[in-house]
Amino acid sequence: MAGTIGRGGVVAVPDDVAEAMAMAGDRVGRLGCHARWFAEVGSTNDEAIALANRGAEEGWLVGADSQSAGRGRHGRSWSSPPGAGLYLSVVLRPPSHAASLLTLAAGVGVAEGIQAATGAEPRLKWPNDIYLVSSGPRKVAGILAEGGTSGARVDYVVVGIGINVRQAILPPEVAARATSLEDELGRPISRGAVAAAVCAGIWRQYQKLIAEGGEDIVAAWRTRAVGTFGRAVEWDSGGVTCRGVARDVDSDGALVVETELGSTRVVAGEVRWTP
Ligand code: BTN
Repeated sequence: MAGTIGRGGVVAVPDDVAEAMAMAGDRVGRLGCHARWFAEVGSTNDEAIALANRGAEEGWLVGADSQSAGRGRHGRSWSSPPGAGLYLSVVLRPPSHAASLLTLAAGVGVAEGIQAATGAEPRLKWPNDIYLVSSGPRKVAGILAEGGTSGARVDYVVVGIGINVRQAILPPEVAARATSLEDELGRPISRGAVAAAVCAGIWRQYQKLIAEGGEDIVAAWRTRAVGTFGRAVEWDSGGVTCRGVARDVDSDGALVVETELGSTRVVAGEVRWTP
């Protein structure tokens, strides 16, 4: 893993991460072929997007010990205090047929990676929020995929991964929605091992998506979505709150919801579980 040292808050890739990535060898594929690590940065996604816009090749990895402006989905912030989590972004340049299911594939890959590194069995909430069985409605990890296009073609997708590894002092509104691997598992968790296993999981699912299409990925996603199907959900569409019961994910990765007016597909936005 080639690191960069010195400029603008850039530091060497921490030993725990560099060693675990090196040990993972071929399993991480091209991920981390080039890496940039920050002691503190605004958002690793912003840095990765800037690199991708300047032509960075697939596999570039940007990480940080902390983020001052970490972003979540739907304009939320992602609390990123030092020493508490993994804040990673990778640059992918998917062929067009693989772009639409990349978000689901990344969710499956991150869940697999957390499982490989910790033995826990992460669950997914559409499209890619990550929970442990014990964590109930509180997330341990989230993914923010942001794409850049050239005309109609997807030029790159930056997959940003935030994983809460250990307990942190969080703002009360975040603490109500978040937990960490160590809190849930009750033992120390190696940040480096999780980073390498998650990169290996993403790379594996990404290669599978490119080579075989999305069928297995959607099936793997369904298996980890135990607790989602049959559940009452609501979401906002055109200023209206819609309600129904989540039934499935279709082959394009849309959530299929049964409403009073029939079955509908939710393709974007936030779906909330309701009691
Ligand atoms: C979510 O669940 O809302 C997605 C959270 C994604 C957070 C990660 S942390 C690394 C990367 N940089 C960011 O600014 N966001 C993502």
